[in-house]
Amino acid sequence: MGGVLPCGSCMLRVDVVVDLQYGDCGKGKVTHHLSRTKKYTHVLRYNGGCNAGHTIFHKGKKFVTHQIPAGVFFGVRSIIGSGCVVSVEQFFKEIQMLEAGGVRTKGKIFIATNAHVITPANKAEDRKRGGRIGTTGQGNGPAYRDKYGRTGVRAESLKRLKPYLIDMYDEWFYTERSRRVTPSNLSRAQSRGVEGLNNVTILAEGAQGFGLDIDWGDYPFVTSSHCTTAGALLNGLPPSAVRDVWGVAKIYETYVGSKRFQPKGKVFDQIGDIGEEFGATTGRRRQVNWMNMQTLERAIRMNGVTHVVFNKVDVLRTVGQWAVIDQGKVVEFSAGGGSASGGKTEKSMQDFITKRLKTLDIPRNKIFFSESKDRI
Ligand code: IMP
Ligand code: MG
Repeated sequence: MGGVLPCGSCMLRVDVVVDLQYGDCGKGKVTHHLSRTKKYTHVLRYNGGCNAGHTIFHKGKKFVTHQIPAGVFFGVRSIIGSGCVVSVEQFFKEIQMLEAGGVRTKGKIFIATNAHVITPANKAEDRKRGGRIGTTGQGNGPAYRDKYGRTGVRAESLKRLKPYLIDMYDEWFYTERSRRVTPSNLSRAQSRGVEGLNNVTILAEGAQGFGLDIDWGDYPFVTSSHCTTAGALLNGLPPSAVRDVWGVAKIYETYVGSKRFQPKGKVFDQIGDIGEEFGATTGRRRQVNWMNMQTLERAIRMNGVTHVVFNKVDVLRTVGQWAVIDQGKVVEFSAGGGSASGGKTEKSMQDFITKRLKTLDIPRNKIFFSESKDRI
């Protein structure tokens, strides 16, 4: 992959942030970090609806967003893409919440014309029937079903959304913003060089995670959208434009929903308590398990991951136990002997993970063990 797409009139690059487990791994934090440290023209939410909850710490304040991408905190054009379903009510609530928290949203938040809307009927249905798999009850599944059944409602058909609508084709390929490209201004722009017309660098931020993906998760205990890098591309982005893919994991796993996930053992409750593992959308307690290396490997391979962030290392450090699941067995780490220090144990787990990731072509300098709420 070139990572840059010269398309005659523009340069298009995409970095993707993708969750490698069951959601709630800290994508919001990574997106926030990347928006702060790199230059993006757009941040794109590429799948899901208001089932997601992104907790973001910005200038010392805590924000929980459900639909609006984190780019808005930096004044970057923030787009809810065609892969998403939008709750109109929640959308306006979120804008209000951001404005009240001092974040300027005017002219920064957009919805793709061909994104779909979650109707009140979708939500009511999900509340009634979603319990079987433990949905968030936000109407996601029924809205996607209507979309694919070709009875859905597109954002472009709602008057209230009109000020926010954008055509993603124009946005990615023809944005000399105020001007539509015509043959004459295109040739003028080309004569000024490729930078003359457009230079689009997108941070594409996924919702949920690999283990909840409609195709690759543990069906039917999944969400109804594409949570992978491929899901980002469905938003009108060519594969050749992809530059970096940031995979986000937690150093242990959590899952919310109806299936049994947490094994017996006090340690898992302890991790859940210390890690404050409660859903940002529903407040439900998340089930906890050790990190599964095979889930991680699958997710890294299938998403084309180039960088990995492991979050919440501080939680396991506080608990004082270090383990992963590998080939169905729990592998515990200890530095050996009674005098083993916690630090050595932590290091032996990091070395184990680093070694495994090397076999997937991810070098040590692209692996981050993070222990902070607001940086990687
Ligand atoms: P739905 O997406 O509301 O239909 O829920 C389907 C499954 O995905 C349930 O197990 C939810 O708990 C889970 N889920 C949906 N969104 C999130 C999220 O943002 N984080 C974690 N789990 C989620
Ligand atoms: Mg979340």
